[in-house]
Amino acid sequence: IKWVEVNSYDEMSEVAANIFTAQLQAKPDSVLGLATGGSPVGMYEELVKRQQAGQISFKDVKTFNLDEYVGLEQSNPASYWTFMHDVLFNHVDVKEENIHLPNGKAADLAIECQAYDARIAEAGGIDLQLLGIGVNGHIGFNEPGTPFTSLTNIVELTESTRTENAIYFDNPADVPTHAITMGIQSIMNAKAIVLIAFGAKKLEAMEKLRSGVVTEDFPASQLLNHPNVTVIYGGTK
Ligand code: F6R
Repeated sequence: IKWVEVNSYDEMSEVAANIFTAQLQAKPDSVLGLATGGSPVGMYEELVKRQQAGQISFKDVKTFNLDEYVGLEQSNPASYWTFMHDVLFNHVDVKEENIHLPNGKAADLAIECQAYDARIAEAGGIDLQLLGIGVNGHIGFNEPGTPFTSLTNIVELTESTRTENAIYFDNPADVPTHAITMGIQSIMNAKAIVLIAFGAKKLEAMEKLRSGVVTEDFPASQLLNHPNVTVIYGGTK
């Protein structure tokens, strides 16, 4: 793992945006793995500015998001589909048909899981995967205890994750109980990975990751076995 310590959220966003910019300049038809949540918003804003300034283009880019809630319509304001359109897709030249999120409303969720990994493989695999990290070390919605061999699957959300995500819903009870998420192996299949984490809340998770212990009790620790991971972090002291 390459560790990059930053002094502010904005600096984290800029350093991460630089990695994505270099990726898009080197390979304009890159396949990007994307994340939702608070961590990547600044980076997406930076990428929007750069696209609008003509420094990068998404016109040949394919995107695959890590996860989506089960049971929410795309149009639901709390869906990850809506989030990604609000913060990124509506503001850049990406083609709608090249945008992929797992479909949490699929009639057969087991088939949707398999189909999602197949769609990623068909696109040639993910060139660059963005990750945030949960306070319990989750990546995607892969909670502690998830087998490292997991592919895209349906997960029951822990109370801690439902509580953290309640800010995106009018009522905490509206947070879905299940999500569809790329598995740990689906994430590990990416050619390169960037993980971003800022703030005191992420201190314990960063310390665990730095300790070097690989265990399914701390899902992000499997990243220690990936050949090309950059962790951009700060504000954890
Ligand atoms: C989001 C995702 C999650 C978040 C993590 C951190 O697609 O898969 O693993 O990356 O929960 O969330 P934030 O950035 O809001 O702290």
